[in-house]
Amino acid sequence: MSIREVLSTRVRQAMDAAGIPAECSPAVALSTKPQFGDYQANGAMGAAKRLKNNPRQLASSIIENLELDDIAEQVEIAGPGFINIHLRNDWLASQLENELATEGFGLQAQNVQTVVIDYSSPNLAKEMHVGHLRSTIIGDVLVRVLSFLGHRVIRQNHVGDWGTQFGMLIAHLEDETAKGMELTGAALADLETFYRDAKKRFDDEPSFAERARDYVVRLQSGDEHCRKLWQQFIDISLRHSEEIYQKLNVSLTREDVRAESAYNAELGEIVDELQKQNLVQESDGALVAFLDELADKKGNPSPVIVQKTGGGYLYATTDLAAIRYRSKILQADRVLYFIDSRQGLHMKQIFMLGRKAGFVSENCSLEHHAFGTMLGDDGKPFKTRSGGTVKLAELLEEAVERAGRIIEEKNPELPIEERQEVAHKVGIGAVKYADLCKTRTNDYVFSWDEMLSFEGNTAPYLQYAYARIQSVFRKANELPDSLNGPLIVATKEEKALVLELLKFEEALQQLAQDAYPHVLCNYLYELSSCYMKFYEACPILKDGVEAQTRHSRLCLCDGTARIIKTGLNLLGIEVMERM
Ligand code: ARG
Repeated sequence: MSIREVLSTRVRQAMDAAGIPAECSPAVALSTKPQFGDYQANGAMGAAKRLKNNPRQLASSIIENLELDDIAEQVEIAGPGFINIHLRNDWLASQLENELATEGFGLQAQNVQTVVIDYSSPNLAKEMHVGHLRSTIIGDVLVRVLSFLGHRVIRQNHVGDWGTQFGMLIAHLEDETAKGMELTGAALADLETFYRDAKKRFDDEPSFAERARDYVVRLQSGDEHCRKLWQQFIDISLRHSEEIYQKLNVSLTREDVRAESAYNAELGEIVDELQKQNLVQESDGALVAFLDELADKKGNPSPVIVQKTGGGYLYATTDLAAIRYRSKILQADRVLYFIDSRQGLHMKQIFMLGRKAGFVSENCSLEHHAFGTMLGDDGKPFKTRSGGTVKLAELLEEAVERAGRIIEEKNPELPIEERQEVAHKVGIGAVKYADLCKTRTNDYVFSWDEMLSFEGNTAPYLQYAYARIQSVFRKANELPDSLNGPLIVATKEEKALVLELLKFEEALQQLAQDAYPHVLCNYLYELSSCYMKFYEACPILKDGVEAQTRHSRLCLCDGTARIIKTGLNLLGIEVMERM
């Protein structure tokens, strides 16, 4: 239990005893200033408003009933009715000792949920580009954090493998293969060029376009020849995505792919069901659901086409089948979607229609966690100099290269193989962290200099903080394994560090709930600055430091290092012993 939870429980008990109704929250929060204690309970004000009572009086009757002797050294009323809580150093020390001695810091959630996470989900017709970065890395953070907290996480890589483009792609593949191209060979190594060539032929050669259209129909009706070509193409494209996942240290594998095509057989049923429930009507030969609940300002209902004129199904139809599968078959308590904010309306429509049709169990929480766009320094969506889309593979290569140059400059003594490994971890970490530390819903400007800086809220800064702590152990000639308390909290810097270390749990809980990775980034950054202050103020290895104090301080170093490492790991970023 986090400190906030412990205090909330205790304060709420006191509120019960003081006769304050259960709806009133204890409103426990971090104190805004050190003189207001470590935490504050601000619930007296809300309760007073509700009960039309004097808040200071309510606060004092809460305090009269409050049992905090084992936890707090001082509790006082301030201002209009704040309750300031000053925590006891020995209690903080024992809390942290316990946490550090427990597997996974003892942070497992009380009620375990099944959480389905839809992320990455690129279209397989093309190569992965920067537009896929955010979904891929943010989604993976939630996978890691929720798994770490003990939830049952099911990844769903909802790749686009069924659009009309696949007709031209397999027709082109057939021709290239006939020319003797090795399937895994040159032409498809560059998916982007392959796509462009196919598209050009589609636009320029009428007979090719006709064959491409025919192939789509044949593919969708199960023709074996087309199916085989399609499968070859999909395999190659997936392999490409997997290479990117590996480079990015993203946990998706082939097993997590549940492609759009996996829902083909159910699409007719989905539409039938919607018809049976009178949720759709015919409009210009298409079947459309008109959602009044999502009407625009003028009152026009929001249209969702579920079947085109001529019988074809759409992106929305597939998403309805997917939502039903996730809720009814996978039995999700929560379904999280990490998709660009531009698909906000689409997701609202799917959630609304899915619920109305009964495709989603009542208690299942549906959450679209949208994100903004990655921008270039011109403030426009990030592009190559010539205005093309930036391939993810090339961006990552550049990151590693740039990191390598910086590491070489900073630490020329590092052996070359180690430098390569460090460059990889720093370069990839920098790209990921620069994204994750921004408020998810905002656009952000991509900047190499900023993300690779060793100062400020960056991955290299945190990786370096970790490596520096490791060097303390080397100097101390002590293995972190032997460092398991007892902790002595005497100075204010030690107390501040212990408090900060204990806030890890709160940061993870908040991230698990709201899916904002920057919460964890900010926490780790704050922790590192707390550590720096501690390190400057509290000598560890100097002569004259008592053995117990030295040991306790080394334990704090170790605790900090372990939490930085775990935190970065949850962000999908690796650390190293030296850099
Ligand atoms: N393939 C889609 C795209 O690239 C994203 C799919 C997101 N997931 C979903 N269930 N719609 O835009």
